[in-house]
Amino acid sequence: MEVSSEKIFAQVSKNGFYDVEIDPRLDLFEEINKLKKEKNAVILAHYYQEPDIQDIADYIGDSLGLAQAAANTKADIIVFAGVHFMAETAKILNPNKKVLLPDLRAGCSLSDSCPPQLFKKFKDKHPDHIVISYINCSAGIKALSDIICTSGNAKQIVDSLPIDQKIIFAPDKNLGAYINKQSGRNMVLWNGACMVHEIFSLEKITRLKERHPNAKFIAHPECEEAVLGIADFIGSTTQLLKYTETNTSQEFIVATETGILHQMQQRCPNKTFIPAPPNNSCACNDCPHMKLNTLEKLYLCMKYEQPEILMDEELRLAAKKPIDKMLELSKQFGLIT
Ligand code: 13P
Ligand code: SF4
Repeated sequence: MEVSSEKIFAQVSKNGFYDVEIDPRLDLFEEINKLKKEKNAVILAHYYQEPDIQDIADYIGDSLGLAQAAANTKADIIVFAGVHFMAETAKILNPNKKVLLPDLRAGCSLSDSCPPQLFKKFKDKHPDHIVISYINCSAGIKALSDIICTSGNAKQIVDSLPIDQKIIFAPDKNLGAYINKQSGRNMVLWNGACMVHEIFSLEKITRLKERHPNAKFIAHPECEEAVLGIADFIGSTTQLLKYTETNTSQEFIVATETGILHQMQQRCPNKTFIPAPPNNSCACNDCPHMKLNTLEKLYLCMKYEQPEILMDEELRLAAKKPIDKMLELSKQFGLIT
């Protein structure tokens, strides 16, 4: 069914995604693959996306890997199966390419916890500090930062600075506290957090560990300090995945968003992966933002090339500087090629 562009615009602006009906007989995998070829599009997906999206993506990765993939792609259209700040990062690096996000409402509680106007005031109170911001922030925060980092390179980036360099770390207080401990620093932390990684219950994890004494407990550094304190391994999603592939244990309790379990199970079908329990009975360790993207929305956004990420050029240039710095340092550290 063809829809007039006027109607499409209304649908996208109201809902943040297309909600036209899709013919149920369509094989969406086949259709998406056709659109990829026709339009020279690439699908970049974060590990927290639903399994179908991970399976059809050209590249799956953590935030660092995705930023690098976005910087290197030759495609004309980048379809970002992730959240808004990730698609925004791709646009910052590729001003002449079309960057699509299947659902514009796919935000991030951590990014939202750090509004640029408030952060600017906070920064002004610490004039002799440089700003390192975790990539999970808006372009407005990136533009106020000196270096961007991800969970995969934060420690190396902080360690590369002189020990007496004063630093503000934003927006994730848990990652910041973890890096402070690891690197013997006293960075000033913005008080932000991720709703998914703060939901884990120390009590329930402890009980689960007792029931699975041979399981390794692994956690993302966005988790709270008490949870990280009992972890056998802490790392970004890519680092957690690699750990489960190389460690000889057969069982893992995983404290991060549940989407990563799909990759873990695919790569090690004979191992057991148990999601760490949240502190209530909801599925709160599923990121509600990441999970707004579906295969149907992915198909529609590729077909109609909307919703698209657009950005003011001055903001883009200011936000690009600290991302370029991160990519340059990550290459120097051998973390990316
Ligand atoms: P990484 O992709 O760096 O592991 O971060 C996880 C995350 O919360 C992304 O939103
Ligand atoms: Fe943001 Fe947390 Fe969701 Fe990642 S998991 S997108 S940090 S809310």
